Amino acid sequence: MGEWLSATQHAQFRQDGFLVLPDFAEPERCLELRHRALRLALERVPSPERATVFTADGKPAHAGADYFLRSGEAIHCFFERDAFDADGRLRDEAHLSLNKLGHAMHDLDPVFDRFSRTPALAAVARDLGMREPLLLQSMYIFKQPRIGGEVACHVDHSYLWTEPLSVVGFWFAIDDATTANGCLWALPGGHRIPVKSRSRLDGSRTATVMDVFDEEPYPSEGLVPLEARRGTLVLLHGALPHLSGPNLSDRPRHAYTIHAIDGVTRYLPDNWLQRSTLPLRGFVTPAPASAD
Ligand code: FE2
Repeated sequence: MGEWLSATQHAQFRQDGFLVLPDFAEPERCLELRHRALRLALERVPSPERATVFTADGKPAHAGADYFLRSGEAIHCFFERDAFDADGRLRDEAHLSLNKLGHAMHDLDPVFDRFSRTPALAAVARDLGMREPLLLQSMYIFKQPRIGGEVACHVDHSYLWTEPLSVVGFWFAIDDATTANGCLWALPGGHRIPVKSRSRLDGSRTATVMDVFDEEPYPSEGLVPLEARRGTLVLLHGALPHLSGPNLSDRPRHAYTIHAIDGVTRYLPDNWLQRSTLPLRGFVTPAPASAD
């Protein structure tokens, strides 16, 4: 029996590679994070000419591989591809055209820091067997109405490689997520399939390349939708195939994700995300600074 997870929940996670925990975060905390994310977007959105479009295959197109690679210890804004018209002009206001913020809000913004570090999250990480959990990256995903793009089927270990595998995704529904507005889909038990690819820095360390170990795609059948009310936490094993559909509806589908690794494993030096000035921290003890 764990501190937070029941024996049944733990067994479910081991069997399926994911676990849905409704009502984990209070709706008020979710709304506080939502307001903060929109404010950060408004304050920090770059001029569209300098924008990085974050595409469904996970690669920055447009300008800005450097902007992407530096985001591991910054708060950067990434646009939706479909936010631009055929002439390359934004169809809507810039901050309403973002795909996401990434990837260090949990260490650089006090509201995100507080949301990301709680005794409950620390207990869940311990229950999952993480000995020294470290919060590696955070993403605030807007999945805007009508333009929110799909995320193709992938496993998180491909992007955040440790030996042995240790990455766990903590996915929070900030808005209600349904099949209509692009909820997560996951392949039950798919975490037992050997990981098929790895994205890493190339020799120049200014771009990423994908090493493919197995050309066979993940099964397209058998995925199940993980519809989730605001406040739901979904835990995702690092080798679990998952995706999310496009948001074709009129309702936004905001979500917040933290990817944590175990500090006792080896974090590979050619992973895209490298920290040089900002040390990694665990789930306890938010920084003392208060939000403005
Ligand atoms: Fe993912």
